[in-house]
Amino acid sequence: MEPKRSNITCKRVLLTGFTLCVVLVTKPASAIDIYADPEVIIQNGTAGILRCTFKSNEVVSSSASMTWSFQSNQPDNQFSKAPYTIFYFSHGKGFPGIPEFKERVQFIGDINKRDASIQLSPVQFSDNGTFFCDVKNPPDVQGTPARIELRVVLKESLPASNTTIIVGTVCGALVLLVLIAIAACVVMRMLHSRHDYEGAR
Ligand SMILES: *[C@@H]1O[C@H](CO)[C@@H](O)[C@H](O)[C@H]1NC(C)=O
Ligand SMILES: *[C@@H]1O[C@H](CO)[C@@H](O)[C@H](O)[C@H]1NC(C)=O
Repeated sequence: MEPKRSNITCKRVLLTGFTLCVVLVTKPASAIDIYADPEVIIQNGTAGILRCTFKSNEVVSSSASMTWSFQSNQPDNQFSKAPYTIFYFSHGKGFPGIPEFKERVQFIGDINKRDASIQLSPVQFSDNGTFFCDVKNPPDVQGTPARIELRVVLKESLPASNTTIIVGTVCGALVLLVLIAIAACVVMRMLHSRHDYEGAR
């Protein structure tokens, strides 16, 4: 009886140890996580901010770099075949990519604060497409670039949701006011009729 039990315990310990080893060994090497808004809607002719942040377990050093690239979603656009670098940042310095973006891209983030955001100004209809934000923070270099779908719109077609929310709020407030007014009327009438009754006595 005893030997059997200790045998089982032994096997369990071995199994646990083995599992731990597997978990530790196959645990992914430190990876970089890059975040951005999946979709951004900007009115043409205005300044647009493309936010991008990252998480890395390593200290951000001067060798940290970031690459922003753009791929158009219009088949006839010259940048529709593949992502083209529009901005590169490394060792504390920014470098422009394709000339179409040279004067319009500005780095507004702070790589030490794990912020790789840029501003694009003015936004043009030809910027409609996908922007990729990629960050490397050696030795943390393994990560998937974040992607942002930029939709450039005319003023009139800016997200209806905002308008809907405002209209909804105003309507709701009006309905509430009407309800309060009705309630006040009812209460006053009740008080009034009680007065009449008391007066009659
Ligand atoms: C946006 O694009 C339309 C059409 O190309 C143009 O008429 C309008 O002037 C543009 N708006 C701005 C602010 O550039
Ligand atoms: C921008 O791209 C969206 C799809 O992401 C498309 O529906 C829209 O028509 C495009 N707008 C322009 C001005 O090309």
